[in-house]
Amino acid sequence: FSRGQEPAGDEKDRRLDQVRDDSDRALTTNTGVRVDDTDNSLSAGERGPTLMEDFHFREKVTHFDHERIPERVVHARGAGAYGYFQVYESLAHYTRADFLTDPQLRTPVFVRFSTVAGSRGSSDTVRDVRGFATKFYTREGNYDLVGNNMPVFFIQDGIKFPDFVHAVKPEPHNEIPQAQSAHDTLWDFVGLQPETLHMMMWLMSDRAVPRSYRMMQGFGVHTFRLVDERGDGTFVKFHWTPLLGTHSLVWDETQKIGGKDPDFNRRDLWEAIEQGQYPEYELGVQLIPESREFDFDVDLLDPTKLIPEEDVPVTPVGKMVLDRNPDNFFAETEQIAFHTANVVPGIDFTNDPLLQARNFSYLDTQLIRLGGPNFQQLPVNRPVAEVSNNQRDGFNQHTLHRGRTSYFPNSLGSGCPYLGEAPYSHYQERVDGATIRKRSESFADHYSQATLFLNSLSGWERAHLTSAFQFELGKCATMAVRERVVEHLDAVDHTLARAVAQGIGVAPPATEQAPNHGRSSPALSQANSRTDTV
Ligand code: HEM
Repeated sequence: FSRGQEPAGDEKDRRLDQVRDDSDRALTTNTGVRVDDTDNSLSAGERGPTLMEDFHFREKVTHFDHERIPERVVHARGAGAYGYFQVYESLAHYTRADFLTDPQLRTPVFVRFSTVAGSRGSSDTVRDVRGFATKFYTREGNYDLVGNNMPVFFIQDGIKFPDFVHAVKPEPHNEIPQAQSAHDTLWDFVGLQPETLHMMMWLMSDRAVPRSYRMMQGFGVHTFRLVDERGDGTFVKFHWTPLLGTHSLVWDETQKIGGKDPDFNRRDLWEAIEQGQYPEYELGVQLIPESREFDFDVDLLDPTKLIPEEDVPVTPVGKMVLDRNPDNFFAETEQIAFHTANVVPGIDFTNDPLLQARNFSYLDTQLIRLGGPNFQQLPVNRPVAEVSNNQRDGFNQHTLHRGRTSYFPNSLGSGCPYLGEAPYSHYQERVDGATIRKRSESFADHYSQATLFLNSLSGWERAHLTSAFQFELGKCATMAVRERVVEHLDAVDHTLARAVAQGIGVAPPATEQAPNHGRSSPALSQANSRTDTV
């Protein structure tokens, strides 16, 4: 932490005590024994076999054999940077979160930008959603805002996430195609799950091909909750706005750049920071008093919908500056573990069913991706706040816990932490209801906000979106799937549906449908009967 003008990363740097430069040290094994030769393995005579007793050879190759860890199941390709966040004015009226209430305080952050569908070695300039994940190393513990560059999501309930991701990733038998948006399985899913449509409009727009991570918005997507000192809550939507403005590539550029420099966005971020042109983003909030929870056409718990800024303006509340590149990609950018459930006092969840699923999924996947339950001890994940509890042992345990006890409560008095002051306490929301698999009526309207988004585009943006639909859906080989998607598009906008249909050899919808909002297309009822009921 730092106040005023001191560098914000100092405290975090100090904790990254394993950063090292070995250039002036003698070469040793991992047990610290100096090595006499690292080019020639030990052999029995000049032409004999390599000897098992060459422990340096065996250790060196074994370590190499184990260098790879599983890539993230989604968002595998990313680039990250350190920086700091500073709030403009205290938000104490809404939240007790320390880092949002002290305008003098610079809180260290690490941000990881990512593509979603591609593997770790895939290209940067593909048509895809971009991740925008921020870890705030606050004095009260780590807070993660794990967002995307689009304000809504494809599905409403996290139980569909495995299906959705299986549809997005390359097909399992041949791992083709690598391009996220140009294949049958994705469009099949879209046609059968029309709740994806609003997000698909964003995905076919220029937002899906950002020029630079420095010129990209970020959104928390879900409605979260701020909680003040008294325990009162306010709904909140988080927005990041780049001070350089939001800029995209055009499709033709993405193709050429992708061929020449698959690291285009990653390189741009790295070089800008090396040159001292630090990316800056303003944090904005849409604040909704609890009394207004039901004042909107949409349910605040529905992550496929946004709250229009005309209804609830975005208030700028602070600024983030990214001013330091990581020292080691693997140790930091690869091993960082973001999790929506990493919250601090003053920030809480809502019952958005997508968010609730995420609160389970991230920790679960990190337990395997990062080799067991001690990954918070990795330097990039380690909080600057003190950690003390009775969790013990497990793979990769680096902490030496002193004392005789590791249980609570105990009266023997050595080693066991006590319950301290100002702890995290969950918002006391009243919940009531039968156990059902059903959401409120407005979850069924898959079209209104898709139309709203389309109508917000300028002429050329709309032209880009239309050609993106033609290009991507035109890559789908199954005509029935193309037709089904066009039928849905007709419920969004007749002119768009006709233009797309004409571009991809599908019979254009004849007449404009009656406004279809709030229900699924009649022609689709059969396909949707299993999936589109709420
Ligand atoms: C990873 C965003 C929905 C599961 C990520 C990352 C981002 C992100 C930014 C990359 C984090 C990083 O850089 O390390 C979002 C957003 C969502 C969403 C904005 C919806 C609003 C979901 C859902 C699930 C899920 C519904 C599961 C039910 C995962 C998993 C990872 C991931 C397993 C990999 C995490 C890791 O290996 O560390 N997500 N996601 N996400 N997401 Fe999501």
